[in-house]
Amino acid sequence: MEKAEGRNQTIIMEFILLGFGDGPELQPLLFLLFLLIYVATMGGNLLIIELVVADLHLHTPMYFLLGNLSFLEICYTSAILPRLLASLLTGDRAVSVKGCIVQSYLFGIISAAECLLLTAMSYDRYVAICHPLRYSALMTSRVCGQLVVWSWIIAFLLCTIVYTFFFHLQFCDSKEIDHFFCDILPMIKVACVDTQTVQLVTFIISAIGTLVPFLLTLTSYICIISTILRIPSSTGRQKAFSTCSSHLTVVTIYYGTLIAVYVVPTANTPKVLHKILSVFYTVLNPMINPVIYCLRNKEVHQSLRKTILKVIAFRNRYRNQKIELKSITK
Ligand SMILES: *[C@@H]1O[C@H](CO)[C@@H](O)[C@H](O)[C@H]1NC(C)=O
Repeated sequence: MEKAEGRNQTIIMEFILLGFGDGPELQPLLFLLFLLIYVATMGGNLLIIELVVADLHLHTPMYFLLGNLSFLEICYTSAILPRLLASLLTGDRAVSVKGCIVQSYLFGIISAAECLLLTAMSYDRYVAICHPLRYSALMTSRVCGQLVVWSWIIAFLLCTIVYTFFFHLQFCDSKEIDHFFCDILPMIKVACVDTQTVQLVTFIISAIGTLVPFLLTLTSYICIISTILRIPSSTGRQKAFSTCSSHLTVVTIYYGTLIAVYVVPTANTPKVLHKILSVFYTVLNPMINPVIYCLRNKEVHQSLRKTILKVIAFRNRYRNQKIELKSITK
């Protein structure tokens, strides 16, 4: 506060998000690329939700959680991509300070919820593999629903703590943010008041919010893998591993990119590299997850095949009816 008044700076109401540079020939290309990614992400995740809701074989805690993860991924990309697409299309990179704060707040809640939901999913796999006999008693649909609801509540509370500090920040002079969406750290960098408290709170909360889920997930997988290794038959081992391999892949990619974006960067990391990794973390992950589950999970695979066959059968019946109708009217 004092610093701002002392230097007599004007308070700004708008940021300029620099995005991916200003090569005019690059913008349409990027627009197309991100549009494709957005459509693929929405399509893939909606498909997973459709399969989980419609197919009775997939009415198990593991797939309910997967359906909820897909819903989260849809929220996740929708918090970032539409605005990026609009700015690539129109060339207008200005975004109001309030809008920017809201975007980063939503993004924060959704990423924290994703972290917690992935942890819930690894707990589900832990119970399934390490305590198979107690699985149906421990993972009831009520427990499953509670895990989902609490993921959202905790994510909301953690982010709200950070943002009660953040809403008081003021920004002046430096309007430019060198990123493609409003993330909290680049915004803190351009604030013109003392940001020490905010930085500390952000650091502590995000450390708790990611480290605790990470350690819980890691512990689950240590137990899972040691249990699997103790299975005597190799087919049994393979079978047990196949039920958690998709989730393990998703979790590894998630934490791998998370660490690359938020933990590794130092002053020497080139900005471009940081942006590319952010694209991976924010935009590509949600697109890849349904692909991993569709390719690697036999049950999702089968359900997908059944749905496609049903659609084809339905279309054939529809076509036959039309032909019949035509022959009648003639
Ligand atoms: C999310 O989880 C709840 C609770 O298990 C479940 O009832 C619901 O169907 C899930 N949603 C989706 C889209 O799978």
